[in-house]
Amino acid sequence: MKFTKILALVLAMLMLFALVSCGDTNADAKDTDNKAADTANDTVADTADDVADADNVLVMATNAFFPPYEFYEGETIVGIDAEIAAKIAEKLGMTLKIEDMEFNSITTAVQEGSVDFGMAGMTITEDRLLEVDFSISYANGVQVIIVKEDSPITCVDDLYAEGASYKVGVQLGTTGDTYSTDDFGADNVTQYATGNEAVLALAGGDVDCVIIDNEPAKAYVAANAGLKILETTYADEDYAICVQKGNTELLQKIDAAILELTEDGTIDSIVSQYIGE
Ligand code: ARG
Repeated sequence: MKFTKILALVLAMLMLFALVSCGDTNADAKDTDNKAADTANDTVADTADDVADADNVLVMATNAFFPPYEFYEGETIVGIDAEIAAKIAEKLGMTLKIEDMEFNSITTAVQEGSVDFGMAGMTITEDRLLEVDFSISYANGVQVIIVKEDSPITCVDDLYAEGASYKVGVQLGTTGDTYSTDDFGADNVTQYATGNEAVLALAGGDVDCVIIDNEPAKAYVAANAGLKILETTYADEDYAICVQKGNTELLQKIDAAILELTEDGTIDSIVSQYIGE
């Protein structure tokens, strides 16, 4: 008798535990205190998860303020990365969905699995390799220095000159940011949310130069009078797609697609649509 009672009690407790621990939605449904706000949050989070999980949708994270790789044309994100990604998705038999976010949040989103991959003119670096896995490279990038036309800075070496203390503008979380913070110290580096904001700060005299990737640099200089790109370069790098660590299945498919798109000239023709010469 006694044993049966204990068994029943244990079973009842187990069932209760299973009920409570079967997900946010149930937990919140019981939680009458927080209602609306919680429900709203859950809906957003669940929708994003559902999208990343949905069989036929491949979700890419980017930061769409980086022409010609990704930028807005009206409401649509276009550019070299957007087009290559669409071709990769096509090869995988999937539909591409692009999510725009802070550049700094991309690797986190990939790590958490709220997106399938990150593609944002993103350089393969040792630090990032600790957080995500990278595909084979699909493009090369060069970190360049933008200055005002009459700037005393005429080459990279001027930044390292004895007694020099120039203010450098960068996009937060980029290689331009980490390299120049290492080289010139955090006090001399100002981080902006986008490269464009860094360039506007340069035009407005808040910083003495901007260190950024070559192609966006050209676009920004073309759009802002009185600026130029120095001929000496700051760093050479390789752009690649990042996926969650250990997601070899997706990585192999992406690598195979990049290889095919390189070999059949698709990537070259996309690049030449956006980059002249
Ligand atoms: N290549 C640089 C990096 O990986 C800058 C990339 C910035 N990309 C962007 N979409 N805002 O750090």
